[in-house]
Amino acid sequence: MSAETKATNIVWHETTVSKAERESVNGHRGFTVWLTGLSGSGKSTLANMLEKTLWERGVRSYVLDGDNVRHGLNKDLGFSPDDRTENIRRIGEVAALFTEAGVANVTAFISPYRSDRDSVREIMKDGDFIEIYVACELDECEKRDPKGLYKKARAGEIPEFTGISAPYEEPEKAELVVDTTNQKPEESLAVIVDFLDSGGYLSA
Ligand code: ADX
Repeated sequence: MSAETKATNIVWHETTVSKAERESVNGHRGFTVWLTGLSGSGKSTLANMLEKTLWERGVRSYVLDGDNVRHGLNKDLGFSPDDRTENIRRIGEVAALFTEAGVANVTAFISPYRSDRDSVREIMKDGDFIEIYVACELDECEKRDPKGLYKKARAGEIPEFTGISAPYEEPEKAELVVDTTNQKPEESLAVIVDFLDSGGYLSA
């Protein structure tokens, strides 16, 4: 399923304050760090650590997180392939708005389908979308099982569980890969902050 435009007679309005003007006032770029990976790989942990680190450096940062967004904006969506696609499409649109608003936006969604992640990349300006693969072995995620969901999935209590009974398509062109099987969260965080620093994202 891909969403179609239903409305007619709608006209796109340019904003009066440009992204570049917002960035110059903020002192840093507006961008989206898109974390993708299995449940339990450390996406939310890293997203929150990154948000805090950036915030402490005076960067306007904000986290969009899978479980939270599914309580509100996407409460009508489940985990079928179509619903996951729509989940990521909506988040992508929200992330694009945050990015245009000059925010350092960090998202933490499994986002298992390559084509869905690529669609989000396409709606952003070049360089604004930073895909980071939070790579963690399934065995390790299952060992951690912070929410007890792998256990339930193995017992057949959760259908279409990513990694067990639903697919995860690894990124092929991620800007960055962090190995959370072997790295401590602090180490992965440092790699991400280095990438942003050296890429000029943290200055206007
Ligand atoms: S996504 O696949 O559509 O990107 P999303 O990141 O929003 O998923 O939500 C994943 C979270 O929902 C998981 O961390 C887990 O807590 C919970 N969850 C519940 N059911 C499932 C399922 N069938 N597959 C994966 N995660 C699930």
